Amino acid sequence: MPNDTKPRRDVAAPGRVKDLSSTANPIVKDLKALAAKKHRDETGLFLAEGLKLVLDALEAGWVLTTLLVAKAEIHNPLLAKTAARARAVGADVVEASAKVMEAVSRRDNPQSAIGVFRQKLVPLEKLAFGADGVVVALDRVRDPGNLGTILRTADAAGAKGVVLVGDCVDPFSVEAVRATMGSIFAVPLTRVAEDAFLRWRQGFAGLVAGTHMRGTVDYREPDYAGRPVVLLMGNEQAGLSEALAGACDRLLRIPQAGRADSLNLGVATGIMLFEARRKALKL
Ligand code: SAM
Ligand code: CO
Repeated sequence: MPNDTKPRRDVAAPGRVKDLSSTANPIVKDLKALAAKKHRDETGLFLAEGLKLVLDALEAGWVLTTLLVAKAEIHNPLLAKTAARARAVGADVVEASAKVMEAVSRRDNPQSAIGVFRQKLVPLEKLAFGADGVVVALDRVRDPGNLGTILRTADAAGAKGVVLVGDCVDPFSVEAVRATMGSIFAVPLTRVAEDAFLRWRQGFAGLVAGTHMRGTVDYREPDYAGRPVVLLMGNEQAGLSEALAGACDRLLRIPQAGRADSLNLGVATGIMLFEARRKALKL
């Protein structure tokens, strides 16, 4: 996009309220640009939509830089409270017209709040497995909906993190963030090259359980309890790379009936997570 070579604009003085009604406003252009991965990479920012989500994110200590609130709904007490909270942490609060909200979210019925947050990734060495934590590692996941679903499911299963191995889709895309339903703020996320993951794996004393269409071990067979576990899941098209498959302690398969060749990656990950966490999760 053309404005990349220009110096960054001073968006607004921190903690100040701006009134925005035109989609031609440079602030709106900057926010809309976050739909592109290039701009997310450049700025280290991403968009998260929804009031509850913004509040949860603030609660979890994520850094909010700008909060866009729908001007027409500012009477909503929760929205007003969120705006006050945003100002208190030094974020810009922008009261925007419905048109602006639609333009930034690219939706006809946008949420009443859109937060701009700073991206956060955890180094692999810093992932806290504990004595028996389960972590999901994804080999070159390509689909933002799958990744979002997996983050949401990992959160629900009480996983300790999700590791993106190799060339993965951007977890901070609007589509992926939407699919997490807020879990992106709850699950530690790591990104690592395949060779770095393989090096790290050599020092990992827990179970590395790979899932593979040619796996010979039933996924219900290993004892996952009482030790740290990495569940290694393959790319949607190609499955696990040879190198990653070779680094697994076991190659597991989920038995299937019917005519489908394989399960959707998100579904397979869900099944693995809840099996690995079976003894830990209680009603
Ligand atoms: N064509 C790919 C292949 O042959 O590996 C299919 C990949 S599948 C859509 C994506 C990932 O989901 C697989 O790499 C594996 O991690 C997991 N998966 C899907 N169905 C599975 C099953 N029945 N057993 C074990 N893993 C499965
Ligand atoms: Co640009």
